[in-house]
Amino acid sequence: MLETMGKYAAGRLSPFLKWAGGKGQLLETFEAYFPKSFGTYYEPFLGGGAVFFHLASKGRITKAVLSDLNKDLINCYVTVRDRLDELLERLKELQNHARDKEYFYEVVRPNFNKIELQTGSEGDVEKTALLFYLNKTCYNGLYRVNQKDEFNVPWGRYKNPAIYDESHLRAIQRILTQSGITVMCCDYHEATMNAGPNDFVYFDPPYQPVSSTANFTSYTPQSFGWGDQERLSQAYHELADRGCLLMLSNSPKVEKLYSPHTFRIERVRATRAISCVGNKRGPVQELLVLNYQRTDVKD
Ligand SMILES: C[S@@+](CC[C@H](N)C(=O)[O-])C[C@H]1O[C@@H](n2cnc3c(N)ncnc32)[C@H](O)[C@@H]1O
Repeated sequence: MLETMGKYAAGRLSPFLKWAGGKGQLLETFEAYFPKSFGTYYEPFLGGGAVFFHLASKGRITKAVLSDLNKDLINCYVTVRDRLDELLERLKELQNHARDKEYFYEVVRPNFNKIELQTGSEGDVEKTALLFYLNKTCYNGLYRVNQKDEFNVPWGRYKNPAIYDESHLRAIQRILTQSGITVMCCDYHEATMNAGPNDFVYFDPPYQPVSSTANFTSYTPQSFGWGDQERLSQAYHELADRGCLLMLSNSPKVEKLYSPHTFRIERVRATRAISCVGNKRGPVQELLVLNYQRTDVKD
């Protein structure tokens, strides 16, 4: 990894987990909308962290606060950061069962659901290894839990799935262990409490569904409903008043919560991979809400 002028440049880094709503396909489009420079980077709906890894790869992050409410997810980041060698040992064993449907249903999924995390920051190696296995072998790499917090995605029928990539994980570990990088498991409001002037907050909350059948808000047992979108809009207004640089992406359904007289509202085209039905993934419009001018700068 190269360190340039105090910022971290790590070659091209990408998410190590597949995550519904991941922003991988939108990074080139987003590039023109990121602020030119900023203080601390906050990503409080982290998921797979596509935007963080993109900015880090370009050497544009000096300090970052990365967080998500999903304990299983944050547990993975903490394990990769703090216990990677143990994790790799376990993943090597699990790789031998990656084509075994029975092992998926009889061993991995039930064992994964038996391990209860308390904080999400414990770095539980077994829970992380089982989530890697599930993430790379289940249907569409979806993460979905029921109201009892049980992972319930079915087997994905991949021919020969690789459940991990050691060199990729080592590169991710190098980024996460840099002194300016904090990983937290908490609500977005708590995560952004200390954000101040010139800090950049990128919000990518669960999408407000465009129709009643397009609902996907099951990253956590409590779904993210309209009341949560309203609460988020209030937080956005408060952070704007504090001088933070803000970018939010969501479905156009939330447009009425952000006045075009106060904020810059943009629409971009995306292929949303949220639907668990592969053939329902079509081009959709994605709303961006910014409280600063678009940069039009590419590096
Ligand atoms: C659309 S996904 C983010 C995807 C991410 N940008 C990526 O590239 O993979 C939304 C995330 O919000 C998280 N989430 C849901 N409710 C939350 C809350 N109240 N506070 C923080 N995170 C929350 C979910 O666990 C999920 O990971």
